[in-house]
Amino acid sequence: MTPPDAADRSFVQTLRRDLQAVLDRDPAAGGRLEALVCSPGLHALIGHRFAHRLWRSGGVLPARAMSHVVRGLTGIEIHPGARIGAGVFIDHGMGVVIGETSVIGDDCTLYHGVTLGGTSWRKEKRHPTLEDRVVVGAGAKLLGPIRVGADAKVGANSVVVRDVPDGATVVGIPARLAHEVRPVGDPIGGHWRRDPTVGVEDPVMARLRELEAEVRALRGLPPREPDADEEPMVRGGSPPTTDEIRASRRKS
Ligand SMILES: CC(C)(COP(=O)(O)OP(=O)(O)OC[C@H]1O[C@@H](n2cnc3c(N)ncnc32)[C@H](O)[C@@H]1OP(=O)(O)O)[C@@H](O)C(=O)NCCC(=O)NCCS
Repeated sequence: MTPPDAADRSFVQTLRRDLQAVLDRDPAAGGRLEALVCSPGLHALIGHRFAHRLWRSGGVLPARAMSHVVRGLTGIEIHPGARIGAGVFIDHGMGVVIGETSVIGDDCTLYHGVTLGGTSWRKEKRHPTLEDRVVVGAGAKLLGPIRVGADAKVGANSVVVRDVPDGATVVGIPARLAHEVRPVGDPIGGHWRRDPTVGVEDPVMARLRELEAEVRALRGLPPREPDADEEPMVRGGSPPTTDEIRASRRKS
């Protein structure tokens, strides 16, 4: 579903939501007045709201000129054709580039250095669509007419070139899923996840042990006594005791 265009809603309502987004998502924002006066992201959005209305009513040149002036003032370049929802927060903002056919849903957050860029020189939908509540980390590049699903997160400095599922976190170049997609509102949250390598026997250590046992058997030596500082065979576990090792040898 394409997010609605804020230009179809009340300008004042949208401005209120944009201002509230700064207060909610910028812990450094001192208050309403400070946010209004000192937020380049908010200034860029206000400028864009006007420029986009001009663009839609056919005033292409004044719209482009306005966007150009706002870019000079804020360091944020938003093409007047871009459709941006309400409650969007552009933090810091310097170096943000939002291309002509980009669509940004409600309550999205973009940090400085984000590019919503095109990969085609044709006049077609060539920039990303961000569904509602997407967070795009500093310096991330999202390229082409891709869709970033609702509640997705894009890691700082990632390069995203394909669709991102709803609720996913993607990182890296090219961006890949950082972990399994959790349903929105999952109480596990982003901070405590099971490490899949914990509790799994280290296959390299296991093979080395086997080889060592074979060599000792071929040389007619008794099985090696484990030493106390030996690495655990299972990550997250404790090193095996001598009795445990003897027992496992007896079994094999
Ligand atoms: C991606 C991000 C949203 C974190 O999401 P999360 O769901 O909490 O993910 P985690 O922190 O658990 O990290 C998941 C994995 O991705 C890795 N990762 C996190 N951010 C990454 C990034 N930007 N680039 C590459 N890898 C990253 C972590 O190291 C971890 O790897 P591991 O599983 O091998 O240990 C966050 O790291 C991020 O980049 N936020 C942007 C914030 C920003 O730009 N702030 C600017 C303020 S001025």
